[in-house]
Order: sequence, then structure tokens, then C-alpha cells
Amino acid sequence: MEKTGKLYGVGVGPGDPELITVKAVRVIKEADIIFTAASSKNSYSLAVEIAGPYISPSTKIHILGFPMTKEEPLVEKAWMDNTKEIALALKKGLTVVFLTLGDPITYSTFGYILKKMKHVLPTARIETIPGITSFHAASARLNRILVEGEESLLVTSGAFGGSQIRNIKQVENIAIVKAYKNIKDINAALKEAGMHKKGVAVSHCGRKKEKIFDNLDDLETRAPDYWTLILAAK
Ligand SMILES: C[S@@+](CC[C@H](N)C(=O)[O-])C[C@H]1O[C@@H](n2cnc3c(N)ncnc32)[C@H](O)[C@@H]1O
Repeated sequence: MEKTGKLYGVGVGPGDPELITVKAVRVIKEADIIFTAASSKNSYSLAVEIAGPYISPSTKIHILGFPMTKEEPLVEKAWMDNTKEIALALKKGLTVVFLTLGDPITYSTFGYILKKMKHVLPTARIETIPGITSFHAASARLNRILVEGEESLLVTSGAFGGSQIRNIKQVENIAIVKAYKNIKDINAALKEAGMHKKGVAVSHCGRKKEKIFDNLDDLETRAPDYWTLILAAK
């Protein structure tokens, strides 16, 4: 029987084209086919742009669509279909790369592929190549210590406002990704936790459009921007 190919989940870092690992570059160069996810409305992929200089002209690029909806059945179906496409390439014996921004197993579309592949092609050989996360890049950009000594760090999503922040008690540091909607509630929860004063937001870290907000209240008066994260501390 023909040997199946191998799937690499590759993180290309958060946006600065120099924040990609040597290992990611090698695997991207070796790929027969590259998959990445983009919203069904928009086929542009920043991950492909960052990987661009290392993609061989003979490598096929396939942008997988995923619906911008929280309707579970639609999302499930889209990811099952996408995983089946990747599995087809693996069955042909190809070296397959799935590109993601930041790290592939941190709030990433590659997580769907990992879970679904267990059902679609349980024998698939898979390797994850870690990438620099957005919150590591942002703390480095600010020369700001993310966590030290015996402290803890909570990494959470701000998509539903401040609810996650209100659930925490003994955490000194917090990184909030998807901090673009419900900013007023996020700020209120950070104030309740005594973390608002030492809070800073970074949008488009490492990109031309990068913006730093030293006062989190300023986020409330601008249009929501998906590519925003907050670092805050007690
Ligand atoms: C779906 S998560 C992807 C996280 C990514 N896998 C990582 O390792 O950082 C998307 C969120 O990450 C954050 N993010 C990703 N890249 C960013 C950047 N360059 N600047 C600021 N925030 C970023 C934003 O909060 C955005 O809403």
C-alpha cells in the first residue's frame, strides 16, 4: 500500500515577517501543497503573505473557506469538508503544510483540523511546528515582562467581554486575545480585578498598521479592530 504523506501545522508568527522560525521556513520550502484558512468572504491570507518568500513556485496554495458564523452545524460541516480535502492530499503521499498565524495550537484553525483528522484519517502523520504567539510578540515589542517569579499568567479570549476575567482570582498577569468587541465590559472587569492601570493594548503587532494603546479606555472610542490584544497585570 502507498505510504500516506505528512501534515505539518506550521505557525508563521504574528505578523512581523522576521518572526518565523528556521524550522517553519524549511518545512514551507519542502511542501507540495499549502493549505490555509480564510473567511469565506475574503480569500486573502496574511499567513501566506508571510510565508511567501519561502514558497517554491511549484507548490500549490489552497485557501480553505470557513464561515464567519457561530452556528455550530455550519462550522462543523465546513471543518469536516476542509479536513477531507487535506486528507485527500495526504492519501496522494504529498507533504502538506497547513499555515496559521502565530502559534498553530493557540486559538488557531489548525485545532479544528487536528480534531477532525482523528476521524477522517486516523493514521495521518502529523507534526506541529510552533510559532511565536501574538501575546509573546506584543510583550517583547513593549519590553514588558509577561510573567515572572512564582506569578501566573492567564491567556484568555475577550470575545464575550469580561466574563472570563471575572472568573479569576489569583492571577497576576493576563493576556486577552480577540479584544475588539465588548471593550467596555473588558475594561470594567479589568478595573474590578485591579488590572486596568497596568493594562496596554497592541493592534497589528509587528505590522505597518501597528498601534499601541497605553490607556485601555482609548479602545472604547475607536472602531473595533479584530487584530487587537490586551496585556494587563495587578
Ligand atoms: C484566532 S486568534 C489567533 C492567535 C494566534 N494563533 C496566536 O498564536 O497568537 C486571533 C487573535 O490573536 C490576536 N492577534 C494575532 N495576531 C496579532 C497581532 N499581530 N497583533 C495583535 N493581536 C494579534 C488578536 O487578539 C486576534 O483577535
